[in-house]
Order: sequence, then C-alpha cells, then structure tokens
Amino acid sequence: MQPSEDLLEMIASFSGNLVALTGAGISADSGIPTFRGKDGLWNRYLPEELATPQAFARDPELVWEWYAWRMRKIFKAEPNPAHIALALMERKGLIKAVITQNVDNLHERAGSRNVIHLHGRIDEMRCTECGKVVEVTEPPESIPPHCRCGGLMRPNVVWFGEALPQKELNLATELCSSNNVVVIGTSALVQPAASMPFYAKRNGYHVIEVNPNTTPLTGIADLSIREKAGKAFEEVCTILKEEEIR
Ligand code: APR
Repeated sequence: MQPSEDLLEMIASFSGNLVALTGAGISADSGIPTFRGKDGLWNRYLPEELATPQAFARDPELVWEWYAWRMRKIFKAEPNPAHIALALMERKGLIKAVITQNVDNLHERAGSRNVIHLHGRIDEMRCTECGKVVEVTEPPESIPPHCRCGGLMRPNVVWFGEALPQKELNLATELCSSNNVVVIGTSALVQPAASMPFYAKRNGYHVIEVNPNTTPLTGIADLSIREKAGKAFEEVCTILKEEEIR
C-alpha cells in the first residue's frame, strides 16, 4: 500500500480520537524556513540574539527587523496540502484539534478552526506595558512599534526562556494524553511540545510521524512516513475532497 493510503487508513481507524502536533516542517513546503537542519534559521542567526527577552531588551529594533522579515515571508506564503488536509480532517470529524509550535497562521488560513498555538502567533503584537494584544496582517510601519499607551510593542510569540501560555499548554497536554497523535514536521527537540507524543503512547494511544528525517519520536511511532508533509498529505487531500463532493 502507498504510505499515504496507510496514513489515511490509520487516521480513519481512530474515529476522531486524534490530534495533530505540528512543527516548522509542515510549513517548509509553503516556503517558510525551518529552524534546524540544512537551511535552518538557527544556522544563520543566533537565537540568543533574536528570540529571547534579553535580546529584545538589548536591541528591540534588531529583533523587530528579523520578525518583520519573517512576517513578510509568512504573510506571502500559502497553505500547502498538509495544512489543507488537516482542515478537511477537522471538518469531517477525523481530528479534534491542531496543536502547533508554529507562529504562522497557515493552519487557520487552510480552514482549521481548533488551532492551539503553543509558541504564540507572529500575526499578533503585544504591548510590554499594558498587555494589549493587536492582530496584524503586515509588518509594523515603524520599527520598533509602540502602543497607544506609549509602551513598546513586541511580537506575541514565546521566546527562549519564557513560559508557554498556560491555557494552551494545559489543553495540549490533556489532548495528547487522551488521543492518538499525528506528529508532522517537528525535530521533537524543544520541550514541552517534544514530550507530548510520549503522553499518548504512555496512555495506550498511537503515534504517527510524518517527517523526511528521523527524530527522537521515530522509535515510538506506530507509523513513520518518511516523506515531506506536503507530498504525504497530497493524496489524503484528494481523497477527502472527492468524498466532500460525493
Ligand atoms: N515536511 C515535513 N517535515 C519537514 C519538512 C517537510 N517538507 N522539511 C523539514 N522537515 C522536518 C525536519 O526534518 C525537522 O525534523 O521538520 C523538522 C523541523 O525541525 P525544527 O526546524 O527544529 O522546527 P520545530 O521542530 O518546529 O522547532 C520547535 O524550536 O526554535 C524553536 O520556537 C521554535 O517552534 C520552534 C521550536
């Protein structure tokens, strides 16, 4: 059987008791760079200089220049078949939620409604003084941007050394402890997201991994699709779209 038929067959066998855990790899096929691996962002930039509260305090302009560059890339990108397949699966009751480490909004733009962002969102800015959060559809005109209250705005993302949003973390932990998990495009190196598929296994659920490379999760995966996400879900998309038409 083709891996994508295996994939859809196993997904359907879970009868909706399934969540997705996604990482930068699912957006790679939309042209958005991942963090590690061959052309990873961390090969060219030091995360300590761009993705920590200390870096922002030291040079908010430099940090905002980098996020504005990432925003331009992300806002120009389009969802790929993997994002679209997850949205179709949600519509058909095959999946309960998408838990993502990504700060892009490609899951939402593909049509997924129940998306849990563990590391925040690049299409939001937060005031460091009053805490006000504003949605953005393009990089700020003036860098660094300021709030009406005069406070400095920051990207509403989780930086290294910062706590994840508690509500999202609790929900994601609960979902991964009581459902099967399809893990797509993560190196499974950054905690606490990397531990979540182990919660599923520990409680007797299954783990599917979709990744062209092996990861620390590969050893516990019940099905490992060694494929790029866009390609692995292309066939799934076609089948689910045909079913929609029938
Ligand atoms: N399809 C599926 N997976 C892919 C593809 C693809 N086309 N291309 C690359 N990958 C895989 C890589 O093999 C790797 O395992 O995606 C993974 C990307 O890993 P990372 O770059 O480490 O991204 P991620 O796992 O999401 O990082 C987690 O680290 O820097 C922090 O906050 C950042 O949320 C991020 C977190």
